[in-house]
Formats: sequence, structure tokens, C-alpha cells
Amino acid sequence: MLDERLSLCAEFVSGVGTVCDVGTDHAYLVAELIKSGKCSSAIACDIADGPLDFAKQTVEKNAIEDKVKIIKSDGLDNILPDGITDVVIAGMGGELIRDIILRTEWLKNNVNLVLQPMTKPEVLREALYKNGYFIKEEKCAFDKTHAYSVMSVLFCGEYKEKITLKEKWLGKISDSKLPQNRAYAELFIRKEKKIIDGMKKSEEKGLLKEHEEIAKLFDDFLKGR
Ligand SMILES: C[S@@+](CC[C@H](N)C(=O)[O-])C[C@H]1O[C@@H](n2cnc3c(N)ncnc32)[C@H](O)[C@@H]1O
Repeated sequence: MLDERLSLCAEFVSGVGTVCDVGTDHAYLVAELIKSGKCSSAIACDIADGPLDFAKQTVEKNAIEDKVKIIKSDGLDNILPDGITDVVIAGMGGELIRDIILRTEWLKNNVNLVLQPMTKPEVLREALYKNGYFIKEEKCAFDKTHAYSVMSVLFCGEYKEKITLKEKWLGKISDSKLPQNRAYAELFIRKEKKIIDGMKKSEEKGLLKEHEEIAKLFDDFLKGR
């Protein structure tokens, strides 16, 4: 059974062709996608040997060796695009996810990207829009203490130099009545308020206005404005 965060990633996978899970670690997502029948083939890749051994164990335990290839790779550097319709990059920082995407040209060929940044989602969203990608759909998952956003992303070729504060910080998260979306907004309000309080106490007030605007954006979201 996947947790809420990985279940949401699985939901966004199209299942049309091969799914590639980058930074697979335990390969739970891949195992679930194959066992549920949503995907008929998968690639589980990771940069490190420990996670790859773990992935191998999961694949053997579930007897899905014929459907899953395990490959050592930094991002998608060692992965050939043949037959891949979906790429999942989950559980990594937003900047690392951005760097992996921007150096992989073949992702522009109609590949559905399922992205779940652990940190800096705003940096990832801005880079996606600047580099011709757009967010089709975005939802939040909540697990006990933390709220995460998961996005489904496609290349469209429209390079947006400037995006709104809302596009950068909330992306396509829209329904302010959903508890997981509210938890996500509350998390960012707490973060921003900490930064604002720190800035007010120090001499460094340069970005104060920007942080106040971000906090207000999330506050307005919670108020349904
Ligand atoms: C926190 S785990 C996330 C596992 C799983 N994707 C999830 O969301 O539960 C991060 C994994 O990413 C792998 N990783 C880190 N940098 C990577 C890179 N540049 N390319 C491929 N995998 C990487 C790590 O080895 C680790 O197994």
C-alpha cells in the first residue's frame, strides 16, 4: 500500500506506455503501478547502489522482474527514451528535479512528467514555465505532519519569462476547501511568517515586502479569495 503522497503520484501516471521512476529508492511506486495493472512496463532508476539493491528486492519479492528494468543513472542521463510515456521524479528537492528535467531534451516529446518536490516547489514551477513546460494539474497530499504538492507537467513550447506570484507559489492548486490544500497553504504561511518575523528583528529588510505578499497570497487562498 502506497502512502497518500505516492498514491497521488501513481494517480497522475497515464499508464499508456513505460513509466520511468527517477530516484526510485525502494521502488514501491513502480511495484504498485505494475501490480495494479496500470502500467505494463517500468524502469526504476537511482543514482546510488543502496537504493538500487532495495529496488531489486522489491521487484523480486513481487515477482515482476519481467516488467521492470533497474538502471543506475544520475537523473535520466543513462535512460533511453524508447517507449517512455511517463516520468516520475518524487521525493527530491525542487532544484534537483529542475536540473534533471532541463538537461533531458527528450522530455519535450510529449512525456507526462509527474513531479513531487520535497522543497522549493516555487523554484521548480518558475523554471518549468520559463523553459516551455506547463502544469496541467496539481494536487496536494497530506501525511500526518507534512503537505506535499504533486504536479502533472507537459512541454508546450511556450516560454514564459514572467509568471505571477500565484503561479509560482500555488501553481495549479485551486480548491481551498480541500483539507490537504489548506494544510499546504498553512505550511507556507508558517514558513513565511517565521521569515518575516526574523527580518523585522534584523537590519535585513530587503525582501520583507515580497515575503509579506507571499504570506498574503496563501492567506487569501485560505479565505477563498
Ligand atoms: C528520498 S528518496 C525518494 C524515493 C521515492 N522516489 C519517494 O518519493 O518515496 C530520494 C532518492 O533519490 C535518489 N537520488 C538522489 N539524487 C539523484 C539523482 N541525481 N539521480 C537519480 N536519483 C537520485 C536517492 O538515491 C534516493 O534513493
